[in-house]
Amino acid sequence: MDRNVLTEICLHQLTLSGVHEGEKVIVLSQGSERLDYADAFLAAGQRLGARMYHMRLPPPLPGNGAWAVGESGLAANPEAVEALKQADMVVDLIFLLFSPEQMAIQAAGARVLTAVEPAPLLARLLPTKELRERVEIGEALLSKAKTMRITSRHGTDVIYRLGVYPTVGEYGYTDQPGRWDHWPAAFVFTGGADDGVDGKIVLAPGDVLLPFNTYVREPVVYTIEKGFVQDIRGGLEAELIKSYMGEFKDPRGMGMSHVGWGLDHRAQWHGLTQFPGGMGMELRSFYGNVMFSTGPNNELGGPNDTACHLDIPMRGCSLFLDDEPIVVDGDIVVKEMQQSQ
Ligand SMILES: [Fe+2]
Repeated sequence: MDRNVLTEICLHQLTLSGVHEGEKVIVLSQGSERLDYADAFLAAGQRLGARMYHMRLPPPLPGNGAWAVGESGLAANPEAVEALKQADMVVDLIFLLFSPEQMAIQAAGARVLTAVEPAPLLARLLPTKELRERVEIGEALLSKAKTMRITSRHGTDVIYRLGVYPTVGEYGYTDQPGRWDHWPAAFVFTGGADDGVDGKIVLAPGDVLLPFNTYVREPVVYTIEKGFVQDIRGGLEAELIKSYMGEFKDPRGMGMSHVGWGLDHRAQWHGLTQFPGGMGMELRSFYGNVMFSTGPNNELGGPNDTACHLDIPMRGCSLFLDDEPIVVDGDIVVKEMQQSQ
């Protein structure tokens, strides 16, 4: 992407994120990844009068095979973490999510924005205040609900008991101390009680497996009891899911993780065809998707910090909070949360 365009969209991002004169903003990169993003953020922040720094970590050592959440190059570098804790805002170009280092940085009051997706996607899904408002309406509804039920014509019927864990909304920018967000994003989620998820989830063709970055072709049936997956059945994708999960040798990977729905009318379900190497944020965000996840819930304050994590956005589902319809057949039915025309 053209340097000037990249700087302009980073300026839009930092402006929405409330960056202002005198603030200290640290851009964190690793190896030679996304150095163009770092330059663009530095230039944009300077234009807003912020004190800008770039912290560049060495690339990870070779041999760290499987991708796993919760590991970052900061773990062996406490001085770097201390420096990041002094910032007002950290722009994370590495993807620190779920790491204890990121949690410490946020706990110290620094807000954290992750930006790792391809630049054309950052440009297409620029955050807006309007989207934030709709995400926050979703957060308000979800945070007061006691149960969530998800159904589908493919046979999904699962109930999450809520009220134990907080609700999180992601809208792609962050202007509050200690708050994290990811650009791009537009969805809300929470987690069920540790022993409070029961039922069946049936993945249908076209549902999305992240981090595989693939579409389901044959139905996959998850049987869930007391917050844990008991059984996964189906064809090729079911075998791939079980094989992948088995590699972690951690039964806690079968725990039920976050659950919620997407709200960005600009995000495309077919997004993986355009950005096959991305993180799948477009797929987590597309309008009316219902996303469930397996694995860790430490992000929400829970005890499960397994590295085995799958996010699975599904199409055409219905989602009810305390029996009130929120999503029906893949469409948002709460008027204030619907896309503006
Ligand atoms: Fe996730």
